[in-house]
Amino acid sequence: MITKAQQEALIQAAVAVREQAYAPYSKYPVGAALLTPDGRIFTGVNVENASYGLTICAERTAVFKAVSEGYREFVAVAVATENAGSPCGACRQVLAEFAGDIPVWLVDAAGHGRETTLYTLLPDHFGPEHLP
Ligand code: THU
Repeated sequence: MITKAQQEALIQAAVAVREQAYAPYSKYPVGAALLTPDGRIFTGVNVENASYGLTICAERTAVFKAVSEGYREFVAVAVATENAGSPCGACRQVLAEFAGDIPVWLVDAAGHGRETTLYTLLPDHFGPEHLP
């Protein structure tokens, strides 16, 4: 059960960490925040590179930070952009590795936006059950 206070804290964490994004090429900073079952929040930003293809998205930064710290399960995610944009396909797939049909809050710089779910964004996804 995610409380309203947890939801607001997660959204505020995504909005706040967006300030740390390194996005000099796209000028589209993104902040992401993940909630763990025990109430911890892991954040991430997009980190771009002059070799453009090496860029990593905010959501994957957050996932990799959390997994590196021993957290492999997430119960909600918030993503902050200038226009409450939706996560890219790669990030949806990486999130699905470590989460079920969790709430996804997509917000703008003021924390306003919409709620969807991971399986709404990525129906019929590839998972470990497809591997031999
Ligand atoms: N970006 C993210 O951080 N997350 C997404 O889900 C979509 C795209 C970043 C990558 C790049 O730095 C910038 O947004 C523009 O594509």
